[in-house]
Amino acid sequence: MIAIATASQKGGVGKTTLCINLAYSLARRGWNTLLVDTDPQGGVGLSLARSTRSKIGFYDYLSGMERDVGRLVLATRLPELQILPAGQYDAAARRGWAPQDVPARLTDLLRAAELRGVDCLILDTAAGLNAMTESVVKACDYVILPQQAEPLAVRSVPHMLETLSRFRSEGAGVKVAGILLTMVSMDSQVSQKVAAELRALLPPDMLFDQNVPRLNSFLQASAMGVPVALLKKHPPPEALLFDQIAAEIERRTGMAEEAEEPTHSHASLLD
Ligand SMILES: Nc1ncnc2c1ncn2[C@@H]1O[C@H](COP(=O)(O)OP(=O)(O)OP(=O)(O)O)[C@@H](O)[C@H]1O
Ligand SMILES: [Mg+2]
Repeated sequence: MIAIATASQKGGVGKTTLCINLAYSLARRGWNTLLVDTDPQGGVGLSLARSTRSKIGFYDYLSGMERDVGRLVLATRLPELQILPAGQYDAAARRGWAPQDVPARLTDLLRAAELRGVDCLILDTAAGLNAMTESVVKACDYVILPQQAEPLAVRSVPHMLETLSRFRSEGAGVKVAGILLTMVSMDSQVSQKVAAELRALLPPDMLFDQNVPRLNSFLQASAMGVPVALLKKHPPPEALLFDQIAAEIERRTGMAEEAEEPTHSHASLLD
């Protein structure tokens, strides 16, 4: 099993959009995928089904209220895709958890997911590197860093990479899967300049080949609570972008050798 987190210093850069669409693409490519929401704001739950907001989930597991992962995961109509919503953060916070216990609980959660046959765990995080996100990232094998294609992004990237190398020097095994440019305006010179500057600044292969363009369909998909592939009866062309990103992930994490052809048609996700 491979565990992949997303992280960003800045909010609203497209982490949740990435997680939902990437998890959907990976599941369609045959990987048993568990999408985990570690953001107390519950973006993944909100996006996929409004009702998941009241469900128990990740934070209830951390607080010890529910230790059976099987009772926390939500099935979708795609057998390869399951969701672990954020759960009841406020209730869990009242109950409390010892910060020093979080790494061990995360390790338990990852082990439980692996025992359930999960091939790929995708973990969405809150904006910024707070203590919880730091623990989540440290517990994962890889982290994807989405960056908005705007000039400030160029400045924040080295800082983020330094933080991750500090995690590694503290004993974490997490590796950077890559930096993914998001909300790229194809007709904007600023976006194109940022992409070029980052390519020049970073080691080769650090940037994903595929960008995520700024498109209204991503906004609409979030509003409707679906991956962009499910926005319309026939998937819009941009749905294929996430298949490309999934293929890059498979290559970058060594999953590629076992990749299978998609087996499911696009269909409504939740039962
Ligand atoms: N490529 C895109 N094109 C247009 N809109 C986008 C794109 N990606 C994300 N959005 C929109 O931008 C907003 C922020 O995206 P998203 O929630 O994925 O970011 P986030 O990094 O998870 O935010 P937060 O840090 O608050 O959790 C959402 O309304 C989303 O629909
Ligand atoms: Mg989010």
